[in-house]
Amino acid sequence: MKFFVDTADTADIRELAATGLLDGVTTNPSLIHKSGRKFLEVVEEICGIVDGPVSAEVVALDHETMMQEAAVLRKIADNVCIKVPLTIDGLKTCKALTDDGAMVNVTLCFSANQALLAAKAGASFISPFVGRHDDNGFDGMALIADIRLIYDNYGFDTEILVASVRHPIHVLEAARIGADVMTAPPSVIKMLSKHVLTDKGLEGFAADWAKTGQTIL
Ligand code: E4P
Repeated sequence: MKFFVDTADTADIRELAATGLLDGVTTNPSLIHKSGRKFLEVVEEICGIVDGPVSAEVVALDHETMMQEAAVLRKIADNVCIKVPLTIDGLKTCKALTDDGAMVNVTLCFSANQALLAAKAGASFISPFVGRHDDNGFDGMALIADIRLIYDNYGFDTEILVASVRHPIHVLEAARIGADVMTAPPSVIKMLSKHVLTDKGLEGFAADWAKTGQTIL
């Protein structure tokens, strides 16, 4: 499963990129607002840090303006992935952009039928928001399982990008189901390495090693 980080904080992106675990980045208008930086400038910086897809979202609601915004974003770097909303205009934009060779991430997906439409529109990625789904009393992971089944039934190439990930269990479940990608905040990605028994084991080894009085270097 590929790991994307869901942030516009370039310090966090650099730190994670250095681990070699990062396959891409997703941003959205709220994350850009949180960064307090200029959208185009921050996307350009992120594209210079990671080689993989960097999702940058259009903000227009109509197809024509989405296409104009996408043209600006595509000029930033080859690894820019245009993020469009799951609306009829967004799907039309997805089809036009992918036909023209662009990477497209269709975002704000909350149903398997929406995901089916995105695949038919040629999306590179579909982003079902599991956390927001759960927050509203739906079963986010059941949605991922449905999309996996449907995409496999028809051999769609669209990658399932599990978004709105809140905790490590979301990542575990997404991997069990066979999602292609997950995007999570830096804190959640770091949490994946944590285990109380790892910490306890390290403490024990360090204490016993100190008693040997030896050094390696
Ligand atoms: C995905 O691309 C979105 O940016 C993101 O995962 C939304 O997550 P949130 O529900 O935590 O805002």
